[in-house]
Amino acid sequence: MKLCMIGTGYVGLVSGVCFSDLGNDVICVDKDNNKINNLKNGKIPIYEPGLEELVRKNIQNKRLNFSTNLKESIRKSDLIFICVGTPTKKNSKSADLSQVYSVGKEISKSINKFKIIITKSTVPLTTGDKLEKIISKKVNKKLFSVVSNPEFLREGEAIRDFIYPDRVVVGSNEEKSKKILRNLYSPLISKGAKYVSTNRRAAELIKYASNAFLATKITFINEIANLCEKTGIDVEDISIAIGLDKRIGSRFLRAGPAYGGSCFPKDTKAIVSTADKFKSNLSVIKTVIKSNQNRSDLLLKRLLSKIKKINNKNVSFLGVTFKANTDDMRDSSSLKLIPFLSKKGAKIKYYDPTGSKKEFNNLKNVEYSNSIQSCIADSDLIIVHTEWNDFKSINFRKLSKNKKLIIYDMRNIFSAEKINKLGIKYFGIGR
Ligand code: UDX
Repeated sequence: MKLCMIGTGYVGLVSGVCFSDLGNDVICVDKDNNKINNLKNGKIPIYEPGLEELVRKNIQNKRLNFSTNLKESIRKSDLIFICVGTPTKKNSKSADLSQVYSVGKEISKSINKFKIIITKSTVPLTTGDKLEKIISKKVNKKLFSVVSNPEFLREGEAIRDFIYPDRVVVGSNEEKSKKILRNLYSPLISKGAKYVSTNRRAAELIKYASNAFLATKITFINEIANLCEKTGIDVEDISIAIGLDKRIGSRFLRAGPAYGGSCFPKDTKAIVSTADKFKSNLSVIKTVIKSNQNRSDLLLKRLLSKIKKINNKNVSFLGVTFKANTDDMRDSSSLKLIPFLSKKGAKIKYYDPTGSKKEFNNLKNVEYSNSIQSCIADSDLIIVHTEWNDFKSINFRKLSKNKKLIIYDMRNIFSAEKINKLGIKYFGIGR
């Protein structure tokens, strides 16, 4: 099939490349000329393992193209995927849909034959209805169908999550577009992916409900971890034991610093904002948002209770991204932790496998180290913030001579017992 992906961020680029790898002709469109020129030369703007090779392969077999010409790309395609950003509005909980609606207006000027317009970006409940209204101002209702097909791609695992999804969700109110979408996804269905075909509004809500539930699950175990810290229990024992109950499941049950990223914080706020508009109170998710926002302060309070004087102490951060296998800093808890400690007079060094971060450039006493060794050599306190595999085999005794070294393992990637045996003070999360 002929596909047009509007927007070449995590969602548009990954989905576009993967669709081309399934044998479709795909044009990825972006208004950013520079980005499109780089993509044409196989230069990828995002950190996503395996993406570069997949782009090169599909450019070579001429199934993947890039363009800045939206009108022409829409005319050439049968399925138009809207993959533009839907960030949280400033000083609000709701999603900013300005890009979605302006793309909708553009599409309505370029419909020369039956098109299916698919919202792939996470869009609030009823967005498809509004898009339909915008387009039908200019185009006969028979000439298009607006469909919801939310993505469930995790950063760092996006290609795998596309090729081997737990389920594909398609929401449409018309039979014709239901059939075409099922056909598009038939290669994944034949490999075992479950396929959920429902109405458009249900598909929009499924995405939010899914992310909000995962955020709730993480916040649940984070709060259980707080109780464990007060009662000498290791939260890992709790996670493992309750996760063995198939009704709970073991994934997304790892205690850590506050959840971050471009989705959970945004989507939990957006679903609450939508529900409030419909006079429906999502009190559990409101509590999750508040609990997660307070989490960094809680971790800092615990840290300061363990380290009497932080002023002038050498503090090292291992990892600063919101999770491993991404370079994304959006809503990473390090964005709260590092400025706070720098204000308290700590001398901070940080190392991350994806390099230095502009977010810390203007902070006093905060510098980037380009190796683990140089980051922790003269450390008084090492904070393990992100669970990069690079950190799991560090030989702390070899790299640090400090007899009074303390390790604050915010991802519980180390064994407390082993670290203590090295004569190093250790504390983790929920243990
Ligand atoms: C998420 C959803 O998983 C994905 O389906 C959706 O399409 C986009 O949003 P992503 O934001 O990339 O994906 O990251 P994810 O792997 O879900 O982690 C989100 C946050 O939760 C991270 O800060 C991570 O560190 C944290 N997390 C995750 C935990 O603290 N504990 C866990 O057990 C899992």
